[in-house]
Amino acid sequence: MSLDLRRLGVLISGRGSNLQAIIDAVEDGRLNATIAVVVSNQSEAGGLARARAAGIDTVHLDHRAEATREAYDRKLVAELQARGVGLVCLAGFMRLLSPTFLDAFPNAVLNIHPSLLPAFPGLDAQRQACEHGVKVTGATVHFVNAELDAGPIVAQVAVAVRDDDTAATLASRILEAEHKIYPEAIARVLDGGWSLAGRRVITT
Ligand code: GRF
Repeated sequence: MSLDLRRLGVLISGRGSNLQAIIDAVEDGRLNATIAVVVSNQSEAGGLARARAAGIDTVHLDHRAEATREAYDRKLVAELQARGVGLVCLAGFMRLLSPTFLDAFPNAVLNIHPSLLPAFPGLDAQRQACEHGVKVTGATVHFVNAELDAGPIVAQVAVAVRDDDTAATLASRILEAEHKIYPEAIARVLDGGWSLAGRRVITT
């Protein structure tokens, strides 16, 4: 099947609230795309139920069933390519992707991260922000490259940190911002009119 950028593959590991934001944006016409498949490495991921409720094809691929990361990633690529996926959106997918995967989707893998990168990459970004004492944090949508949370930035939104915030209260405000910017950033990538200049995503 040929690859169509507007056929999205969403990879998840958990509750899938960003997946839901993408589903909602597709359903109400803010995002001109089709979610071709939702893949989870966790069978119990809440996002799988959200996808099924929306009538979207789902796949559970257990990473523990594969001997190597590359073997797992080859299976992932096969599931996505079989459905003509052109753009991959990571939405709480808790696994690193190997060059095997990234080479199959050059400049076509997006991720959302709950901080203003390059601050606070990795796990527990909201807790890191609280503990560091920053006054502003936020969310970032970026292209995925071989380094963790380090690819070219498509969109960012700032969220103020309050004195009485805990990691949990901050995370829930950041999540609201995530739900807004992720579908917008996907639409921007799909609509074109941008190019990569080194690390920078610039309007052309
Ligand atoms: C979000 O905070 C996202 O930024 C991070 O993982 C979390 C996923 O949440 N990458 P959900 O599964 O989309 O609700």
